[in-house]
Amino acid sequence: MSQLDACPKLHFGRHCLDALADLPDGEVMVLCDPFMVSSGIVGKVTDRLERYGRHYVMFGEVAPDPSIQTVAKAMRLMLDAKPDVLIALGGGSAIDTTKAVVYFCLKYKEALMDRRHIHRPHFVAVPTTAGSGSEVTSYTVLTDTDNDVKIPISDRAMIPDTAILDPEFLKTLPKELVAYPGMDVLTHATEAYVSRQATAFTDLYAVHAAQTVLRCLPRLYAGDRSDETSQDMMLAATMAGLAFHNSSLGLTHGIAHTLGAEFHLPHGYANAIVLPWVIAFNAGVGRYREHRRPELLGRYAAFSRALGLLAPGAPGGDEAAVEELIRGVGRLDKAFDIPDSLAGAGVDLDRLSGDRAEMAAKIMRDITTRANPAPVTAAQVEGILEDLRSGGCPV
Ligand SMILES: NC(=O)c1ccc[n+]([C@@H]2O[C@H](COP(=O)([O-])OP(=O)(O)OC[C@H]3O[C@@H](n4cnc5c(N)ncnc54)[C@H](O)[C@@H]3O)[C@@H](O)[C@H]2O)c1
Ligand SMILES: [Fe+2]
Repeated sequence: MSQLDACPKLHFGRHCLDALADLPDGEVMVLCDPFMVSSGIVGKVTDRLERYGRHYVMFGEVAPDPSIQTVAKAMRLMLDAKPDVLIALGGGSAIDTTKAVVYFCLKYKEALMDRRHIHRPHFVAVPTTAGSGSEVTSYTVLTDTDNDVKIPISDRAMIPDTAILDPEFLKTLPKELVAYPGMDVLTHATEAYVSRQATAFTDLYAVHAAQTVLRCLPRLYAGDRSDETSQDMMLAATMAGLAFHNSSLGLTHGIAHTLGAEFHLPHGYANAIVLPWVIAFNAGVGRYREHRRPELLGRYAAFSRALGLLAPGAPGGDEAAVEELIRGVGRLDKAFDIPDSLAGAGVDLDRLSGDRAEMAAKIMRDITTRANPAPVTAAQVEGILEDLRSGGCPV
């Protein structure tokens, strides 16, 4: 049996931030990172709150790849301020921090109080990057900085109630903050499409999101910040989020979480480097030809054809289509100055070799690895890490 979990109420299009006028009554808490405060971007939200006569408190200390310590700090403010509305403003890091605050506050109260007296604040997500899709998913990804591990947690209580997708925010993004979250969108779409839990609905979202990345991301990166291109990319991020929330992610995320935590690589950047290798591994092409998986090869080939990477009827069959998908991802990486190897990413290769078995064990424990559509062993993960050292193109 399959199901489609529909999404929060979505507001999108120019000036949709004005939807903040319709928030439920009560105290508001805004969560964002220090850049949002110092750059004045948060003013787009707080000016409106003031205009609408709303009282708010602010937590402006969200850090990239949110740590458990940051969440604990925000929780203390939340338990003091007792807000009725939470507004997460920022990229995946701000939204994930807010989700974790909601989750742990609920757990804390459930341990002490009768459930009937627990009030969950109305949760509004306002993404300012086109990337994580966190505004529509039940996932948060926390970093245990003591042990260099990223921990994805999933719980329905963390799904925002409202998401406001205002394209205006993308206008201030520097190039790399267009490219890295954008490659995260492509990774979400690809992993959702080949997921064992994929359905006709998630396929639609995944294909549309990936087509939009191919069409819009190079334009945004080159400086086209028109309303139309920005809006399309913002919606693509949310659609890819809906696709993987209703299916799953896979090994690309499992590896990228660990590499990101160990070597402080931005999430979308790590995914972009790993994605071609996991496609090749899962489908069994190029360097991984010895474990061909015809069914998965067919799924990746269908995705590649849906993206127009191999024309229908072109010679070469499924293998050629998957190879074109891998090359297509590689071309985007190159266009966005993303290296094709961990050496190129400046990773400490001695440490990578020395800690490879331990890293593979962390990758195996990640819930996204467990959702990978092809079975994978720790030894195979070590092999992929080894191949990623000098990288290149796997086909
Ligand atoms: N919960 C999920 O489902 C999910 C899915 C994928 C990724 N993630 C997580 O999301 C995080 C990555 O999110 P991200 O890629 O959106 O980056 P991010 O939230 O870490 O932000 C990166 C940087 O971009 C800056 N920034 C954000 N918006 C800006 C704007 N409009 N103008 C200028 N600068 C801006 C921020 O200040 C920050 O310095 C990672 O922690 C990742 O693990 C979560
Ligand atoms: Fe991601």
